[in-house]
Amino acid sequence: MNFLLSLFAALVLIEFASAQTWYFVTFTTPAGSYISSYTGSFVAPTLPQAATYYLWPGLQPRDNAGVLQPVLDGRSGTWWIGDGWCCSNPSLPWGSGFNGTGSCVNAIRKTDWKHPIEVANGKTVQFGLKVNSIQNGTWATTLSSSGGGSATGTFPLPTHPMNQAIMAIELYDVAWTFGQFAFSNVVIVANTTSTAWCTNGPTNYQNAAVVSKSTPVATVSGGQTTCTIASIVLVRPA
Ligand SMILES: *[C@@H]1O[C@H](CO)[C@@H](O)[C@H](O)[C@H]1NC(C)=O
Ligand SMILES: *[C@@H]1O[C@H](CO)[C@@H](O)[C@H](O)[C@H]1NC(C)=O
Ligand SMILES: *[C@@H]1O[C@H](CO)[C@@H](O)[C@H](O)[C@H]1NC(C)=O
Repeated sequence: MNFLLSLFAALVLIEFASAQTWYFVTFTTPAGSYISSYTGSFVAPTLPQAATYYLWPGLQPRDNAGVLQPVLDGRSGTWWIGDGWCCSNPSLPWGSGFNGTGSCVNAIRKTDWKHPIEVANGKTVQFGLKVNSIQNGTWATTLSSSGGGSATGTFPLPTHPMNQAIMAIELYDVAWTFGQFAFSNVVIVANTTSTAWCTNGPTNYQNAAVVSKSTPVATVSGGQTTCTIASIVLVRPA
């Protein structure tokens, strides 16, 4: 969150020409603990028009090097989704990194995604982000749409253990008029026996969104906490 806040401050300076609007919630694990799995599903809203709508769940590391995210992208006028790691690798075309010039997700291109799939309005997308081990940091990504289509990817991110699970609506020069962005069956696993990060969470960035959610449920086993949120909905701008 701190990183995102400073990112936004930077973007206000750098990206002033573009009207960027953020709505997001974040579950942040306690210091020294990391996320090993983030899964769930969400419903693709009805896309109002071709415009820069980015809707996504994602994981962010404590070192703030980027975001591992399946991004539902509305620019073409049809939703597309693919997984990406944005933007730690300066050789990638979308820029020099989160605190470099230009914004990150803004520049993800469909061709850079891992096997993007088309998603029709109203379809449910299931997403999975799972690491083989926190130390090794090789993430396996899965996507499937109730309308058909699936994709998998592999992202070796060994130096970027993830501590933030995010659900975001990111908009450029367009307003949130598409109705709710609804997640269900969200499960976050982290290697901590603390549970408050789950049961007290998530934080709601600037309280910009009206958020409706079921009470997160934490179960502890084997040194890990599994945080289950049956329903969490970004309802509308606050
Ligand atoms: C979580 O896993 C990482 C990587 O193995 C380890 O460094 C860290 O100490 C673990 N944290 C807890 C709270 O077990
Ligand atoms: C921002 O970039 C500088 C210079 O490359 C780097 O030293 C610093 O760690 C970066 N900060 C973040 C938050 O990524
Ligand atoms: C990390 O995991 C990948 C995938 O299983 C494996 O190929 C690689 O050798 C592992 N790296 C280390 C340092 O264990």
